[in-house]
Amino acid sequence: MRLLLTTSKGIEDLARAELESLLSNLGILFRVEEKPLGVEGRVLAEVDKAFYTDEKGRKRELSVSAYLNERSRLLHRVIVEIASERFEGIGEEDPERALKRLEEFVSGLPVERYVKTSESFAVRSFRKGEHRITSIDISKTVGKAIFERLEHFGTPRVNLDHPAVIFRAELVGDVFFLGIDTTGDSSLHKRPWRVYDHPAHLKASIANALIELAKPDGGSFIDPFCGSGTIPIELALRGYGGRIIGLEKYRKHLRGAEMNALSAGVLERIEFILGDATRLSEYVDSVDFAVSNLPYGLKIGRKSAIPRLYMDFFSELAKVLEKRGVFITTDKRAIEKAIEENGFDTKHHRLIGHGGLMVHTYVIE
Ligand SMILES: C[S@@+](CC[C@H](N)C(=O)[O-])C[C@H]1O[C@@H](n2cnc3c(N)ncnc32)[C@H](O)[C@@H]1O
Repeated sequence: MRLLLTTSKGIEDLARAELESLLSNLGILFRVEEKPLGVEGRVLAEVDKAFYTDEKGRKRELSVSAYLNERSRLLHRVIVEIASERFEGIGEEDPERALKRLEEFVSGLPVERYVKTSESFAVRSFRKGEHRITSIDISKTVGKAIFERLEHFGTPRVNLDHPAVIFRAELVGDVFFLGIDTTGDSSLHKRPWRVYDHPAHLKASIANALIELAKPDGGSFIDPFCGSGTIPIELALRGYGGRIIGLEKYRKHLRGAEMNALSAGVLERIEFILGDATRLSEYVDSVDFAVSNLPYGLKIGRKSAIPRLYMDFFSELAKVLEKRGVFITTDKRAIEKAIEENGFDTKHHRLIGHGGLMVHTYVIE
C-alpha cells in the first residue's frame, strides 16, 4: 500500500524521520520518499501490511493509516493512494480538454474497492500551480467519474457535508493524485485540545518540528512568547521529563494557554508565567532550551517596534541560555541582527511554510 502524507513545507525531512520511527515500531517493511515527484509538503510511504495479536491470541491486521493518524505529531493528513500520474502540459491546456483527461483517467481506476455502496462519499480537491481549471472543476469532474463508475455496482450516495468516505484529488503542477483521505475533514495539526484560539497560533506540527530542531535532552525548556501555549503543551504531550516554562506578556493569552493545557491534560507539567520576555532574566536564572515563534510585527501593530523587541529579548536570552534556542519569524533582518549582536551562532537555518508564508527558522547556540 502507498500512503501520501502531507505536512508543512520545509519540514518534510523531520516528518520523514518521525514516520520511519513510527513504522519501525510496527516491525514492517517500508520505503519512504520525501517530496515525491518534487511536490513540497509531502512524504510518500510504501508500506507492508501490519498485524497485531488480539486479546484472544488471534492475528489481526492493523490499520497503518489509523496508527499514523493517532500517533503522528508532524503530519497533517494520511491519504491512501489509489493512483498518481503526471499529465504533461495540463497547465496550459484548454479547460475542457484538461478535465476530459482527468475524467478518463479516474474512470479507469477501481474506486469501488474503497467505498461500499451503502456508504456516502465526497471528493475534496487541492490544486497548486498554473492551471486554467479550478479546484472546484477538479472536484466536480472527479466526483462525476467516480459516481458513474460506482453506478455499475449499486446506487452511489454523495454527501458533501458529512461523507463516510473522502476522496482526495490533488493537482500539483502537472502531477495528479487520487487517494482516500483517512484523516477526515479536520487536519491533524488542528489539535483537539485547542479550546483557546490565539490569533497568531503556531501549527502544532510546526511546534513539533521546532522541538525536533532544538533536541531538548531533559533539561529546562522555555517558550518566552508562548501565546496560547502550543509549544510547551506539545512538548509536555511528548512525555518530556524536564522543567517546562511558558512566558507570555498578555494575561488573556496566558489564561488561554492555561485553558489549552488543562484541556490537553498537561496543566500540571507547565509553569506558566505572566511576564515580559525582554526582562527574561528576572524570571529564570538559567534555562537549557528556548523555543518560540516570535511576534511578527504585523500581528502586534507597530512593525517598527520589532527590531528593538528582538534586540532586547536576545540580550536577555544571552544571560540565561545554556544550550540551544530555536526561533521562527518572518523578520529575517531583525532576528539576524539580534542573534549576531548578542554573541549567538546560527547553527542551522531553514524556511518553513506557515499561513501562506515561508517563515525563517534559526537554531542558535
Ligand atoms: C506569534 S505569538 C506566539 C503564538 C504561540 N506560539 C501560539 O501558538 O499560540 C507571539 C506572542 O508573544 C506575545 N508577546 C509580545 N511581546 C511580548 C513580550 N515582550 N514578552 C512576552 N510575550 C510577548 C504576544 O502577546 C503573542 O502572544
